[in-house]
Amino acid sequence: MPTIHVKLRSGDQRSIEAKANQSVMEALRDNGVSEIEAMCGGCCSCATCHVFVDAAYADRTPPISEAESELLSMSDHRRETSRLSCQIPFTADLDGLVVEVAPLD
Ligand code: FES
Repeated sequence: MPTIHVKLRSGDQRSIEAKANQSVMEALRDNGVSEIEAMCGGCCSCATCHVFVDAAYADRTPPISEAESELLSMSDHRRETSRLSCQIPFTADLDGLVVEVAPLD
């Protein structure tokens, strides 16, 4: 099964299974990664699904939209690799994706 490796805020790491046709946020949430609150359900309005994407996968994710960038700019923890995980559709190309849950704002 396609896999996402996630580093939690505690530093612990988990590997979860992901399906095509779901977002990275949905894969994390559906596998019990409770640090991903996803309060808006994936409509790009809460930023509680903020993750850092491993640089090796950056060019396999869709470009960041203006709305996503605006939301991320409100975070004290924004990095070059920041993304809202609800805005990344999981595809076969992302098998093995490595993400880290961003700290809480
Ligand atoms: S789930 Fe709300 S912005 Fe991603």
